[in-house]
Amino acid sequence: MSLRLGDIAPDFTADSTEGKINFHSYLGDSWGILFSHPADYTPVCTTELGAAAKLKEEFGKRNVKMLALSVDGIDSHHAWIKDINETQHTTVNFPIIADEDRKVSELYDMIHPNANEKLTVRSVFIIGTDKKIKLIITYPASTGRNFDELLRVIDSLQLTANYSVATPADWKHGEDVVIAPAIKNEDIPAKFPKGHKEIKPYLRTTPQPNL
Ligand code: BEZ
Repeated sequence: MSLRLGDIAPDFTADSTEGKINFHSYLGDSWGILFSHPADYTPVCTTELGAAAKLKEEFGKRNVKMLALSVDGIDSHHAWIKDINETQHTTVNFPIIADEDRKVSELYDMIHPNANEKLTVRSVFIIGTDKKIKLIITYPASTGRNFDELLRVIDSLQLTANYSVATPADWKHGEDVVIAPAIKNEDIPAKFPKGHKEIKPYLRTTPQPNL
């Protein structure tokens, strides 16, 4: 059965460009982002890993550890990283799993046979400090991901994990958020002392509470 939000992210041990990794130990007390790319030495993947590397500090600020994966081998990964660093003007600074036996890809259902029998799709799993899956996104091989969007989503996940709020469409860090429907009007002043607006009884907003 495929993985769903709220499931414990399956643990595994795998070879990576930074040595053998046990996933849960690697995550420790951090959040995690596990993302697959279809193959080494492909153009979109080259740009994606470059974009991800440039944002490592931003992921770090959010206490998120990065882990990439493809079904190619370690030697291929190491040689390709040199190309990524050269062409994307960065330094790949997180491990890439060499999933040649597809153990991890299968565990995370990253191979979608009707898209491609052998290569992984562009899967993204965001995992919380409780090791539970908070977000799953799947892109086809032909569409590179937007890593700024992944940071935006992490900002929302981390905020909504700690406050009774949700984030509206296109929300960005610093903007007003939506008060969770479960919160009664009479409880709002104590929970959200910065004030709130009632646009409709079911649509109440408040300034981002953790700023
Ligand atoms: C790419 O990363 O450019 C790519 C990989 C597999 C299929 C199509 C594009």
